[in-house]
Amino acid sequence: MSIRIAGTGSYVPERILSNADLEKMVETNDEWIRTRTGIEERRIASPEQATSDLAYEACLKALDMAGIKGEEVDAIIVGTITPDYVFPSTGCILQDRLGAKGAFCFDLEAACSGLLFSLEVAYSLMKTHPKKYRHVLVCGAEKLSCITDWTNRNTCVLFGDGAGAVLLENTEDEGADCVVASDLHTDGGYGDILKMPAGGSRRPASVESVGAHDHFIHMEGKEVFKLAVNAMVGAGKNVLEEAGITPDEVKLVIPHQANSRIILAVAPRLGVPDERVFMNISRYGNTSAASIGLCLDEAFRAGRIAKGDYVLLTAFGGGLTWGAMLLRF
Ligand SMILES: CC(C)(COP(=O)(O)OP(=O)(O)OC[C@H]1O[C@@H](n2cnc3c(N)ncnc32)[C@H](O)[C@@H]1OP(=O)(O)O)[C@@H](O)C(=O)NCCC(=O)NCCS
Repeated sequence: MSIRIAGTGSYVPERILSNADLEKMVETNDEWIRTRTGIEERRIASPEQATSDLAYEACLKALDMAGIKGEEVDAIIVGTITPDYVFPSTGCILQDRLGAKGAFCFDLEAACSGLLFSLEVAYSLMKTHPKKYRHVLVCGAEKLSCITDWTNRNTCVLFGDGAGAVLLENTEDEGADCVVASDLHTDGGYGDILKMPAGGSRRPASVESVGAHDHFIHMEGKEVFKLAVNAMVGAGKNVLEEAGITPDEVKLVIPHQANSRIILAVAPRLGVPDERVFMNISRYGNTSAASIGLCLDEAFRAGRIAKGDYVLLTAFGGGLTWGAMLLRF
């Protein structure tokens, strides 16, 4: 048995928030945002849309590409830091909407590395129980706009909403495995540099926590930047070494879309030229766990990835969490 990618899908909300729009909200300007981050606009979900609604649209597309019905899905893993509720999980809500009656479903929280961590878990489940888990749906989905402090220019220019999904399928084909190598890490010692301070059991919601803006993303940008580059380069090199392939053999690098300067610092250190690095950050900003799935789907549908190609995914996020995964399509 091998595990292959049978479908990909993505979704972004209709509403576009441009840098010019942000200029009216906080003291910033288009030039600063473009040159420091590479972001030109981002998508914002409507008040009626929750994360599961974004995930649902992306998953439908992945199922459609694979020609699989919801009821044939055996498990759903949703990478997210913006679940619809603390409980029930977004995975359970998605299961109901997709009609995946027999599936077991849960959320996985690894911030911006959510899709990579979810893929690793899905792949391992399928390898361990190939008859039980024939189709596993993995989705990274976020409504970051609801945890973004729209009065703080240090963070509000960076984030956006969206979802990306991947359907993994067991096949009889020998040697068609889609995950060639992976290298995933966390370091809880750096938890404070990127976090949402309130809303959990440590600091439940209170009038004071709301007043202090502690239900929003807090970030030490410069520190995150430095760690992100080193971590993604290290993990990327590790997977290439484990797989025994050279950077020249990689068709496309898909890094988490946090900042174009981070991405363009990582690529040369991995030995991959910029033209083989996928970027859509200018249109969507940082969509956390959704970003790699969004890129993967766009790249595949645009013909930038074909059967047999090596694709290197790298991610970095709060936790800290980071890692890389080498896929073979
Ligand atoms: C956030 C980030 C873009 C800031 O870029 P930077 O080059 O480090 O900028 P600095 O923080 O040094 O800020 C430089 C100046 O710009 C100002 N500034 C910050 N945000 C601004 C904005 N939106 N518009 C205009 N000026 C801004 C700062 O206040 C600072 O002014 P000062 O020098 O008078 O104090 C960058 O650090 C970054 O991308 N970090 C990683 C963030 C990330 O990826 N997080 C998610 C990880 S998954």
